[in-house]
Amino acid sequence: MLLKIDSVTKKFGGLSAVSDVSFELEEGKILGLIGPNGAGKTTLFNCINGTLPITEGTITFNGEQISGKKSYQIARLGIARSYQVTQPFGNMTTLQNAMVGAFCKTKSYNEAESIGLNALKTVQLDHKAEIVAKHLNLGERKKLEIAKALSTQPKLLLLDEVMAGLTSTEVQDMVKIIREINATGITIIIIEHIMEAIMSLSERIIVLNFGKKIMEGTPDEVSNDQRVIEAYFGVDEGDEEYA
Ligand SMILES: Nc1ncnc2c1ncn2[C@@H]1O[C@H](COP(=O)(O)OP(=O)(O)OP(=O)(O)O)[C@@H](O)[C@H]1O
Ligand SMILES: [Mg+2]
Repeated sequence: MLLKIDSVTKKFGGLSAVSDVSFELEEGKILGLIGPNGAGKTTLFNCINGTLPITEGTITFNGEQISGKKSYQIARLGIARSYQVTQPFGNMTTLQNAMVGAFCKTKSYNEAESIGLNALKTVQLDHKAEIVAKHLNLGERKKLEIAKALSTQPKLLLLDEVMAGLTSTEVQDMVKIIREINATGITIIIIEHIMEAIMSLSERIIVLNFGKKIMEGTPDEVSNDQRVIEAYFGVDEGDEEYA
């Protein structure tokens, strides 16, 4: 197993944003992570990559316990993530942004530049390499988020809503890019609200609701599960009177 999440809980004061979540992920797979707003998806990413310390449980990556390590140590071990809200270094060029991550594994500027450029090619943004990043549009910023993560040369890539706000053509484009990244051997966990995209990309999907894992299965199993449908659409208790 590449990643093992064992009974992980993350509390913010009295709120369990992630509550006793367990799952395993094999190398080479794409795992989908879905759930309503506030379900704890981003918090789980923050726990995996060490942005936030976990309250209980253990996280094992490549046989090594990573819970308790700092995020830069976890990055060096091979976990990278994109952020839901894109935050490029606005006054730096697209290429300079994409290079930053490479310095977690190399000290050479030239090597970092070539890794950054490769990452930009993967996300089809190399034609914007010399543009100052603040001039990129949303779709391009989302691609740059992925390139920044890729340049750390990860084994596991965590993608947090990289398709939110994109046009349907841009979504299709992004689905293709994510497949290509996965085909190079990088394991992926993807959070996404666009069902069509996540259903077509993921081999398995985990559903969170109020911090708890309520379902894990194939896209087909998940989309037909009553608990999942209720989590998304709620149960209208008033209906029972007329049932
Ligand atoms: N740093 C924090 N401090 C306190 N509470 C937080 C913090 N981060 C998240 N939360 C709370 O934890 C819960 C889960 O939030 P999280 O951002 O993980 O949800 P999400 O599933 O990513 O939602 P969305 O789909 O809207 O991005 C929410 O109630 C949120 O308000
Ligand atoms: Mg989120």
